Amino acid sequence: MNYRKFGKSGWKVSEIGYGMWGMAGWTGSEEKEVNQALDRAIELGCNFFDTAWAYGDGLSESILNKTLKRHTDKRLYVATKIPPKNRKWPSRPEFALKDVFPADYIIEYTEKSLKNLGLEQIDLQQFHVWEDGWSNQDEWKEAITKLTSQGKVASWGVSVNRWEPDNCLQTLHTGLISAVQVIYNIFDQNPDDHLLPLCRELDVAVIARVPFDEGTLTGTFTRETRFPANDWRSTYFVPENLNASVEHADALKPLIPQGMTMAEVALRFILCNQDIATTIPGMRKLRNVESNMSASDGNTLPAKLLDQLKMHRWDRKPTQWSQ
Ligand SMILES: NC(=O)c1ccc[n+]([C@@H]2O[C@H](COP(=O)([O-])OP(=O)(O)OC[C@H]3O[C@@H](n4cnc5c(N)ncnc54)[C@H](OP(=O)(O)O)[C@@H]3O)[C@@H](O)[C@H]2O)c1
Repeated sequence: MNYRKFGKSGWKVSEIGYGMWGMAGWTGSEEKEVNQALDRAIELGCNFFDTAWAYGDGLSESILNKTLKRHTDKRLYVATKIPPKNRKWPSRPEFALKDVFPADYIIEYTEKSLKNLGLEQIDLQQFHVWEDGWSNQDEWKEAITKLTSQGKVASWGVSVNRWEPDNCLQTLHTGLISAVQVIYNIFDQNPDDHLLPLCRELDVAVIARVPFDEGTLTGTFTRETRFPANDWRSTYFVPENLNASVEHADALKPLIPQGMTMAEVALRFILCNQDIATTIPGMRKLRNVESNMSASDGNTLPAKLLDQLKMHRWDRKPTQWSQ
């Protein structure tokens, strides 16, 4: 496992981190296997974990709590998120800050997460949605400054809405935000335009989330792929999205070198970008952990392949189903 500098924090985080949404919110999770997968990731050098209160109303955080207790000899970095008070993903420009992240609510949910995680301090507390229009309002700044001065949170992050990477640029200029979590993968390369250069300039850490485009960049989806009604993917992979995603993923297949999987190419594509501190694949299966951790071996993709993959950029705009 290779480690990268996490912005100004001084942390050295594993370039492959761990996304913890699937284990509390997607169907098909099996507790024993999830715990084995987490333990194996730590054995293989993973030290950065991304969870959120909203992943099972604290369930994913409490799974991480137990994991931390099994590995007290290791320095593991914990990132979690405050859910929007109005429970609406994504936020919209017309939403008022007082309805989404009022100061007392920021404090209340940080306390809840501390309890779920069994921690005295959260390494990175993130806002689970964000609007750049809130950047000049004082309420959130006062709340986070208080929590930081009390030692309850070490640093703060914004998780930007899907396909809106620029919806945080002014906020980064406040100097209060240490990390941005953004969708960045072979399809979603638009953070390269404005967000990543600004993060480089301000030394803000970048967490690349959704490296497999919620699964399509593993190359295993077909037009017939279906999800149970209680799995959020059933509302996301509506025919319009599923069919277009399968078409884009199929177009990549001829580029995958022999002996590699599309998932491996997808991770290596992200790791080739030095602006990224860590990428956080969602994983529940042991075999996925083993294969994903092995992508951090220091080998980059050949320059020609990287150029070809860059041609598969797919710019999308938020829609009714995109969440
Ligand atoms: N708004 C936000 O802040 C936000 C939104 C979305 C995601 N996130 C964070 O980002 C993380 C990653 O995103 P995600 O989990 O939504 O999507 P993702 O990482 O793009 O895809 C996860 C899917 O890929 C599968 N997978 C993982 N490794 C694989 C491999 N080597 N081969 C084949 N399939 C593989 C997983 O299977 P298994 O689960 O069965 O192992 C899972 O079905 C989340 O877990 C969460 O921490 C944050």
